[in-house]
Amino acid sequence: LLMEQFTGMDQLEKQLASLFEIERCLIVSGNSDEQEKVIGEFGELVDEALQRQLPEGRNIIAVMGGTTMAEVARHVSPLETTKRHNLFVPARGGIGEAVSIQANSVSALMAANAHGEHRALYVPEQLSEEAYHTLLKEPSIRTVLAMIKEANCVVHSIGRAVHMAARRKMSEDEIVRLKQKNAVAESFGYFFDEHGAIVHKVPRIGLSLEDIQKMPTVLAVAGGKSKVKAITAYMKNAPKQTWLITDEAAANEILKGK
Ligand code: G3H
Repeated sequence: LLMEQFTGMDQLEKQLASLFEIERCLIVSGNSDEQEKVIGEFGELVDEALQRQLPEGRNIIAVMGGTTMAEVARHVSPLETTKRHNLFVPARGGIGEAVSIQANSVSALMAANAHGEHRALYVPEQLSEEAYHTLLKEPSIRTVLAMIKEANCVVHSIGRAVHMAARRKMSEDEIVRLKQKNAVAESFGYFFDEHGAIVHKVPRIGLSLEDIQKMPTVLAVAGGKSKVKAITAYMKNAPKQTWLITDEAAANEILKGK
């Protein structure tokens, strides 16, 4: 209730949640493409959602990377921990981002701000098939991977396909192939076309889309007019329990084009 009063956008939130057939949408006023503070407000909503949604006992929160998530992490505050133990882990191994926005760094920051625990997943960016299988046998990596697979909450963003491919320095060939397959969205290292179908996977370890299907708490954070196509595409097959945290600019544009 508090959050609804906060945003004052109940109607828009309900319409968007029903369009995407997901549990809930929370909308911040403004446009995150132009106003950095809007992303800070996404962070405050994530903070509030974690405070309210995480059950008593042991929680494992898997966190993705990106610029949105890095800013969101800055706004997380100490979680109530008398009855909860909160462990933060990166959702996936390195997928080619700059260090400060990698899932490892973002989950570490979120853990520090939430006064939770953190485990990093050290996986190099460039990995041969052979090295990958060897790494999977490494006890320290296996332990963290097992924790990631047990996560009961995930916080992630959604990106634009070609923008993400270029930012992660995928090859020209790969980018051409993504364009041919009409990729418009990226999340968790998966690329999606406008129907929400997976058209490419970055071969990395950690959470798979399948793991997310049955996870109790899924928070997706993405806004701005520039991400309208990406959000719409990803949301086509998003888990039903997803909460989408977005902004007014994206929400209006999505509902206009439905
Ligand atoms: O997977 C999606 C990307 O991490 C989103 O990145 O927050 O920098 O747009 P961004």
